[in-house]
Amino acid sequence: MTQQRDLIPPHGGHLIDRLVNAAQKQEFLGQAETLPRLQMDERTFSDLVMIAIGGFSPLVGFMEQKDYESVVTDMRLANGLPWSVPITLSVSEEVAEPLKEGSWVRLDDPFGRFVGVLELTQKYRYNKALEAVNVYRTEDEKHPGVKVIYDQGPINLAGPVWLLERDPHPLFPKYQIDPAKSREMFRDKGWKTVVGFQTRNPIHRAHEYIQKCALETVDGLFLHPLVGATKADDIPADVRMRCYEILLEKYYPRDRVILAINPAAMRYAGPREAIFHALVRKNYGCTHFIVGRDHAGVGDYYGTYDAQHIFDEFDPDELGIAPMKFEHAFYCKVTKGMATTKTSPSQPEERIHLSGTKVRELLRQGELPPPEFSRPEVAAELARAMRVSVESY
Ligand code: ADX
Repeated sequence: MTQQRDLIPPHGGHLIDRLVNAAQKQEFLGQAETLPRLQMDERTFSDLVMIAIGGFSPLVGFMEQKDYESVVTDMRLANGLPWSVPITLSVSEEVAEPLKEGSWVRLDDPFGRFVGVLELTQKYRYNKALEAVNVYRTEDEKHPGVKVIYDQGPINLAGPVWLLERDPHPLFPKYQIDPAKSREMFRDKGWKTVVGFQTRNPIHRAHEYIQKCALETVDGLFLHPLVGATKADDIPADVRMRCYEILLEKYYPRDRVILAINPAAMRYAGPREAIFHALVRKNYGCTHFIVGRDHAGVGDYYGTYDAQHIFDEFDPDELGIAPMKFEHAFYCKVTKGMATTKTSPSQPEERIHLSGTKVRELLRQGELPPPEFSRPEVAAELARAMRVSVESY
């Protein structure tokens, strides 16, 4: 019990668990044919899962209007707790019309399987332009997060949800470590301080550098690649996970790192998503969270360090998890190692800049990322996956 108290509390104080027990599951399955049916897209389904496993604590369902509006305008839930990204279930007028507030709705996954239930407490209209501008800082529909808003229906369905079963991940069952489990693992390892790392890109040496700099000052590293929906040109999650496995094998101390998947969808909301990512990792038990250059950014919608500055808008105690901010890291040709301008004597032309976008560009052109960019084993795996020749490496 004493040890338990040492772990950082989940956001809002306790870990949400919306997984039904066996009897409740049978009861819901018995109503499968009578409940109105709603098919979720990939992102909504992953939101349902994140709510159910406590990754989105304190949320117990899709946001009601007062929470939604408060999040959009003030980055807080209606009770004042920081929360930066709306979690909503948006549908068309035709779908919303027959559904009555106070009724139960059957939630199907994108394959049409009955996976959850929504206790519909509220239906409301919302302002798409306001959500786009406040959350994504742009109304440009070329922005992948904004596009989702404009493509989805105009009515939000809100209320508590239940998940019928926590299925093992089809591709990464052994890395499916939900918040209750990660907390148990941190406790077992005796880790008091744990830094979380979010990523949606194949690991490159700047990632490795900032992870290891962070790990120098805390007990453990929680590598938490996002494997939910990403935009089409991001590298697929199975390739990214293999890169991690390969790298961990050779370049990391096994007893100080836990690799686990984050089932959530990517929103590309830059600064707002950095706060969101940090709060989610707090729920997994992390005390610290890495925020580097252009965190969760896309295109040039955000300034390089906007995702760091946004943390200053909150009292550190109300967030609970501490950001570890890193400058743009690069390979320094003078010192022949990774560095930032804080630690390197180099001139700009003596630096090799790394980014996930650059790695993707090289691979698309049939080129391998150079050793200053990616570890050779990772480059070879990327090459294999992207079917480019390894000869040139
Ligand atoms: S993200 O969309 O998940 O943020 P990515 O996987 O590229 O994208 O980044 C993971 C984390 O590493 C983010 O915190 C990002 O800011 C940081 N990062 C990526 N590249 C660099 C770099 N060259 N220098 C410093 N931080 C970086």
